Amino acid sequence: MRAYDIIEKKRDKIELDKDEINFLIKGYVSGEIPDYQMSAFLMAVYLNGMTDDECEALTECMLDSGDRMDLSAIDGIKVDKHSTGGVGDKTTLIVTPIVAACGVKVAKMSGRGLGHTGGTIDKLASIPGMKTNLDNEKFFEIVRKVGCSVVSQSGNLVPADKKIYALRDVTATVESKPLIASSIMSKKIASGADCILLDVKVGDGAFMKTSEDAVELSKVMVSIGSRFGRKVAAVITDMNSPLGEAIGNALEVRESCEVLKGSGPQDLKEVSLVLAANMLYLADKGTYETCYKLAENALNNGSAFEKFKEMVKAQGGDISSFEGDHYVSEAKIKYDVVAWDSGYIHSMGAESLGKASMILGAGREKKEDSIDYSAGILLHKKIGEKVSTGDVLATFYSSDEYKCHEAEKIFKEAVCISENIPKIGKLIKARVTSEEIEKF
Ligand code: URA
Repeated sequence: MRAYDIIEKKRDKIELDKDEINFLIKGYVSGEIPDYQMSAFLMAVYLNGMTDDECEALTECMLDSGDRMDLSAIDGIKVDKHSTGGVGDKTTLIVTPIVAACGVKVAKMSGRGLGHTGGTIDKLASIPGMKTNLDNEKFFEIVRKVGCSVVSQSGNLVPADKKIYALRDVTATVESKPLIASSIMSKKIASGADCILLDVKVGDGAFMKTSEDAVELSKVMVSIGSRFGRKVAAVITDMNSPLGEAIGNALEVRESCEVLKGSGPQDLKEVSLVLAANMLYLADKGTYETCYKLAENALNNGSAFEKFKEMVKAQGGDISSFEGDHYVSEAKIKYDVVAWDSGYIHSMGAESLGKASMILGAGREKKEDSIDYSAGILLHKKIGEKVSTGDVLATFYSSDEYKCHEAEKIFKEAVCISENIPKIGKLIKARVTSEEIEKF
């Protein structure tokens, strides 16, 4: 077998078999197939797509490149959740304790943020003392005792994805549905949960820019999950503007606690409840309506917040910090951005606001960059709100005034104030299961 022939077949839209895909992935991971041939293959996939069988084979080869987590030592159904990445997306911090408070175990592996999107592990790491690099024994012990734990992805889970993702990142092949689907699903299946809920983001700040594309991607991922014996559903949620009002690690933890305490921004609360209800539904806790009620009760009666504190404490975190705004006051500079016009907030580009927050110190441009946990943006106005010239639209948190000026330029380009009342799109666009596609 030769890599050349496999690339040629994909270029000419001829379906590949499992042996061919295996040859390519194994050869690339071992270093026998060079970057330039893999790049050509990835671009051929980007342009010509993959069949369901090819996608399943690719996922399996990626899975076989490393270890698989065996969660069978933990009793009961284990549910996992994955977001395709957004700005201000702190739902994992809210949804995980809600689901655990309803009696369903969540053993979750999460990632760090890169570029304009944040990562759950960075948000958790902003809590003093919080450990996320736990060994399996400790991870399992916490899930058994508390009902949930969120840790960083362990060393040898899907090494093929690490290598291929790095190459996709520099060859303009990230936004390919079969490549995204196999990348996400190989990691989720390797993580061992019985049920997987996917939060597929759509809009300006997401990989998928239209609902049609998001539905297509969801269908592929749900189908891969079913082929591997997992119960999978996808909820398609809006990412045209940031979720909630906080962007940046410590600010997002604080906002998550507000929602867990029964207040906080309505959009964040609604998306979190829908995700939690879908996770409970996958875990057979009743009809969807019953599951939604269960999730709502866990927020209203304080049991979800208690569960969150239990989890943080079990992972070494200092829970006393949730009560005040300890971290937020740690940012040396608080810088208000005021409205330059009167009217309605028409748009707030999520991707640009994510970039502005990264410039303030909250994110990484390169993997090795360090981050400032106290940095970020607190929005005081959201899409649809009326503003007058001089109103404070947002507060920037940073350690450097120069960074605030840079971020302000991006912010002002991303936010549009118009005299017309904008049409606000739905937060939850669709739900895709192996049986049906529901559009809202
Ligand atoms: N997230 C992933 O893990 N992989 C992708 O390809 C895209 C988003």
